[in-house]
Amino acid sequence: MASTSASTPPPGSPDPAGRGQPARRLPDGPSQQEAEKQGGSPEIIRLLRKNDCFKCHTVDRDKDGPSYQSVAEKYKDHPDPRESLFEHLTSSPTITVNRKEEAHVSFKTTDTQEIMNVVDWILSN
Ligand code: HEC
Repeated sequence: MASTSASTPPPGSPDPAGRGQPARRLPDGPSQQEAEKQGGSPEIIRLLRKNDCFKCHTVDRDKDGPSYQSVAEKYKDHPDPRESLFEHLTSSPTITVNRKEEAHVSFKTTDTQEIMNVVDWILSN
Protein backbone atom coordinates (compact mmCIF):
# COMPACT_ATOMS: atom_id res chain seq x y z
CA MET A 1 0.00 0.00 0.00
CA ALA A 2 0.99 3.57 0.16
CA SER A 3 4.42 3.37 1.58
CA THR A 4 4.84 6.81 3.02
CA SER A 5 7.17 8.85 0.94
CA ALA A 6 10.55 9.49 2.38
CA SER A 7 11.70 11.96 -0.21
CA THR A 8 8.67 13.98 -1.30
CA PRO A 9 8.97 17.48 0.14
CA PRO A 10 6.05 18.52 2.33
CA PRO A 11 3.42 20.46 0.44
CA GLY A 12 3.72 24.17 0.69
CA SER A 13 7.35 24.15 1.67
CA PRO A 14 9.08 27.43 0.98
CA ASP A 15 10.67 27.72 -2.39
CA PRO A 16 13.91 29.64 -2.10
CA ALA A 17 14.26 29.93 -5.86
CA GLY A 18 11.19 32.09 -6.00
CA ARG A 19 7.85 30.63 -6.83
CA GLY A 20 5.96 31.39 -9.97
CA GLN A 21 8.97 32.20 -12.05
CA PRO A 22 8.94 30.33 -15.31
CA ALA A 23 11.92 28.10 -15.83
CA ARG A 24 14.41 29.91 -17.97
CA ARG A 25 14.99 27.35 -20.61
CA LEU A 26 16.01 29.09 -23.76
CA PRO A 27 15.70 27.33 -27.06
CA ASP A 28 18.69 27.23 -29.33
CA GLY A 29 17.23 29.92 -31.53
CA PRO A 30 18.70 33.08 -29.98
CA SER A 31 22.19 32.53 -31.36
CA GLN A 32 21.21 34.58 -34.33
CA GLN A 33 19.82 37.56 -32.43
CA GLU A 34 22.87 37.35 -30.24
CA ALA A 35 25.15 37.56 -33.25
CA GLU A 36 23.23 40.57 -34.49
CA LYS A 37 23.69 42.25 -31.15
CA GLN A 38 27.39 41.61 -31.39
CA GLY A 39 27.60 43.63 -34.54
CA GLY A 40 27.31 40.97 -37.19
CA SER A 41 26.09 42.67 -40.37
CA PRO A 42 22.98 41.29 -42.09
CA GLU A 43 25.12 39.70 -44.80
CA ILE A 44 27.29 37.95 -42.27
CA ILE A 45 24.28 36.68 -40.34
CA ARG A 46 22.65 35.53 -43.54
CA LEU A 47 25.75 33.61 -44.54
CA LEU A 48 26.17 32.01 -41.14
CA ARG A 49 22.54 30.99 -41.12
CA LYS A 50 22.56 29.66 -44.65
CA ASN A 51 25.58 27.52 -43.83
CA ASP A 52 24.18 26.17 -40.56
CA CYS A 53 27.00 27.66 -38.49
CA PHE A 54 24.60 28.54 -35.65
CA LYS A 55 23.86 24.88 -35.20
CA CYS A 56 27.22 24.47 -33.49
CA HIS A 57 28.47 27.98 -32.71
CA THR A 58 27.30 31.04 -30.87
CA VAL A 59 29.17 34.23 -30.21
CA ASP A 60 29.79 33.82 -26.53
CA ARG A 61 28.93 30.28 -25.44
CA ASP A 62 30.53 27.03 -26.44
CA LYS A 63 28.13 24.62 -28.08
CA ASP A 64 29.29 21.68 -30.17
CA GLY A 65 31.85 24.10 -31.50
CA PRO A 66 33.79 26.80 -29.66
CA SER A 67 32.22 30.24 -29.24
CA TYR A 68 33.46 32.84 -31.68
CA GLN A 69 34.80 34.78 -28.74
CA SER A 70 37.01 31.89 -27.77
CA VAL A 71 38.11 31.51 -31.38
CA ALA A 72 39.09 35.17 -31.45
CA GLU A 73 40.91 34.68 -28.17
CA LYS A 74 42.73 31.61 -29.45
CA TYR A 75 43.96 33.48 -32.52
CA LYS A 76 44.95 36.63 -30.70
CA ASP A 77 48.67 35.91 -30.97
CA HIS A 78 48.56 33.90 -34.14
CA PRO A 79 50.85 35.28 -36.87
CA ASP A 80 48.24 34.92 -39.58
CA PRO A 81 44.79 34.34 -38.13
CA ARG A 82 42.84 35.33 -41.23
CA GLU A 83 44.72 32.92 -43.44
CA SER A 84 44.26 30.14 -40.93
CA LEU A 85 40.53 30.63 -40.43
CA PHE A 86 39.97 31.00 -44.13
CA GLU A 87 41.68 27.66 -44.54
CA HIS A 88 39.50 26.16 -41.80
CA LEU A 89 36.32 27.35 -43.49
CA THR A 90 37.17 26.27 -47.00
CA SER A 91 39.05 23.01 -46.71
CA SER A 92 36.60 20.89 -44.64
CA PRO A 93 39.11 19.86 -41.97
CA THR A 94 38.25 16.88 -39.80
CA ILE A 95 36.79 17.90 -36.44
CA THR A 96 35.34 15.96 -33.53
CA VAL A 97 31.70 16.48 -32.56
CA ASN A 98 30.32 14.37 -29.73
CA ARG A 99 33.41 12.16 -29.96
CA LYS A 100 32.72 11.45 -33.61
CA GLU A 101 34.91 12.65 -36.39
CA GLU A 102 33.31 14.57 -39.20
CA ALA A 103 34.26 17.13 -41.78
CA HIS A 104 33.77 20.73 -40.73
CA VAL A 105 31.34 22.47 -43.04
CA SER A 106 32.81 24.67 -45.70
CA PHE A 107 31.07 27.79 -46.89
CA LYS A 108 28.84 27.14 -49.82
CA THR A 109 30.20 30.16 -51.60
CA THR A 110 33.24 30.77 -53.70
CA ASP A 111 33.19 34.46 -52.93
CA THR A 112 36.45 34.93 -51.09
CA GLN A 113 35.49 38.41 -49.98
CA GLU A 114 32.28 37.14 -48.35
CA ILE A 115 34.23 34.51 -46.44
CA MET A 116 36.87 37.01 -45.36
CA ASN A 117 34.12 39.29 -44.02
CA VAL A 118 32.95 36.47 -41.78
CA VAL A 119 36.50 35.64 -40.73
CA ASP A 120 37.15 39.27 -39.80
CA TRP A 121 33.92 39.44 -37.87
CA ILE A 122 34.70 36.24 -35.94
CA LEU A 123 38.12 37.60 -35.06
CA SER A 124 36.57 40.87 -33.90
CA ASN A 125 34.51 39.16 -31.20
C1 HEC B 1 28.57 20.17 -36.80
C2 HEC B 1 28.94 21.28 -35.97
C3 HEC B 1 29.60 22.48 -36.61
C4 HEC B 1 29.12 23.28 -37.63
C5 HEC B 1 27.80 23.14 -38.40
C6 HEC B 1 30.08 24.34 -37.81
N1 HEC B 1 31.12 24.17 -36.94
FE1 HEC B 1 32.71 25.40 -36.73
N2 HEC B 1 33.55 24.10 -35.43
C7 HEC B 1 32.94 22.98 -34.92
C8 HEC B 1 33.86 22.32 -34.00
C9 HEC B 1 33.58 21.05 -33.20
C10 HEC B 1 35.04 23.09 -34.00
C11 HEC B 1 36.33 22.82 -33.21
C12 HEC B 1 37.29 22.13 -34.12
C13 HEC B 1 38.62 21.89 -33.47
O1 HEC B 1 39.09 22.74 -32.74
O2 HEC B 1 39.18 20.83 -33.75
C14 HEC B 1 34.80 24.21 -34.89
C15 HEC B 1 35.71 25.20 -35.13
C16 HEC B 1 35.43 26.37 -35.80
C17 HEC B 1 36.29 27.51 -35.87
C18 HEC B 1 37.66 27.63 -35.19
C19 HEC B 1 38.71 26.98 -36.04
C20 HEC B 1 40.04 26.98 -35.38
O3 HEC B 1 41.03 26.89 -36.11
O4 HEC B 1 40.13 27.08 -34.15
C21 HEC B 1 35.66 28.46 -36.61
C22 HEC B 1 36.16 29.83 -36.98
C23 HEC B 1 34.40 27.89 -37.01
N3 HEC B 1 34.29 26.63 -36.51
C24 HEC B 1 33.47 28.56 -37.78
C25 HEC B 1 32.35 27.95 -38.31
C26 HEC B 1 31.52 28.54 -39.33
C27 HEC B 1 31.70 29.95 -39.89
C28 HEC B 1 30.56 27.64 -39.63
C29 HEC B 1 29.50 27.73 -40.72
C30 HEC B 1 30.08 27.80 -42.08
C31 HEC B 1 30.75 26.49 -38.77
N4 HEC B 1 31.86 26.71 -38.00
C32 HEC B 1 29.96 25.36 -38.73
C33 HEC B 1 31.68 22.54 -35.20
C34 HEC B 1 30.87 23.06 -36.20
